[in-house]
Amino acid sequence: MTIDELYVRAVRAGYEGLVRPLLFTMHGGDPEKIHGQLISTMGHLPDSLVGLIERFIGQGRQPVDVAGVHFPGRIGVAAGLDKDGVAAGIWSPLGFGFAELGTVTAHAQPGNPRPRLFRLIRSGAIINRMGFNNNGAEAMAARMANLGVARGNNALGCPMGISIGKTKATPLADAVDDYLFSLTTLAPYADYVALNVSSPNTPGLRSLQGRHELEELTGALVARARELDADDPVPVFVKVAPDLTTGQLDGILSSCEQAGIAGIIATNTTIERDGIKGSDARYASQAGGLSGSPLTAMALDRVRWITAHTDLPVMGCGGIMTPADAQAMFDAGARLVQLYTGFIFEGPALVMGINRLTRPGKGARA
Ligand SMILES: Cc1cc2nc3c(=O)[nH]c(=O)nc-3n(C[C@H](O)[C@H](O)[C@H](O)COP(=O)(O)O)c2cc1C
Repeated sequence: MTIDELYVRAVRAGYEGLVRPLLFTMHGGDPEKIHGQLISTMGHLPDSLVGLIERFIGQGRQPVDVAGVHFPGRIGVAAGLDKDGVAAGIWSPLGFGFAELGTVTAHAQPGNPRPRLFRLIRSGAIINRMGFNNNGAEAMAARMANLGVARGNNALGCPMGISIGKTKATPLADAVDDYLFSLTTLAPYADYVALNVSSPNTPGLRSLQGRHELEELTGALVARARELDADDPVPVFVKVAPDLTTGQLDGILSSCEQAGIAGIIATNTTIERDGIKGSDARYASQAGGLSGSPLTAMALDRVRWITAHTDLPVMGCGGIMTPADAQAMFDAGARLVQLYTGFIFEGPALVMGINRLTRPGKGARA
């Protein structure tokens, strides 16, 4: 066993033995309250502690250039973990090479009624139907400006992607204008913008993945990015659902290539319920998207299919719970990976393990 492996094991043991039991039981075990508290705490750590975290946990990132953006590491925070950028400054010290903040919408909104977040501990999974609770695109822009973030300046140690979605109250027919407002508001701050058309928790949203709808949306957003900065438009990525047929995915890839989309993020949560174990079955009927271990094989399969059918760069996301899962994504051609559920269950040791124990796969070629 190498020193790196031993070190990762020690940090994992500390998280599993001390931090996770506390995190899973605070606030009477209410996962949303715990999450809010955790993000808020991580956003307010003293500089001295952030420095120690960076020194002992955040080393070993492996840089890569994708879509014209220099990423100091290949692992990112998936959208939804830090919806309003409250903890934006902690992701790089923890070893992430980028963070996808959001999803934010043109207008602030409360999201769905609680409870709307369920931890399936035996299954290594989460079901959520948050429904884009967020403070809105303008609040995110103000927060980024406050933190000194401007596109390309890496003020927080790594690129900040920002995910945008449709405001619930905006009719689907006006979706393009809603997304355009968010893109225009956030382009000065975002190193890339992710179009979220794949959340299962906003009624009708995923119909924007239809070929005609997506052509219109991606065409308008890429044109706006070029108007805002003709020499160096902000790269726009599209995030897809795992629950698509290959025929649908094919249509999405053609629309994205034609519009000048910079890359694909695969995948969002699934509406399937396979892979839920034992007593967690009581949650299976909860509406929402399932993430974590039950999604691992499905997301990997979609990434394999996508990289075989397009030269657009791919960020792999979905059920990455171990360094080996990340390695499988890289070997399937993903240039970057993102974590949500794996980070909740495994903590910083997962980021350390991926940074130190994986190598670029065939996706490194492009
Ligand atoms: C509680 C929760 C909230 C999420 N919110 C968003 C979101 O706002 N936007 C988005 O694109 N994806 C969102 N996601 C999906 C994740 O970004 C990711 O695509 C998905 O969870 C699969 O990755 P994982 O298995 O590593 O969690 C959310 C996931 C969870 C668990």
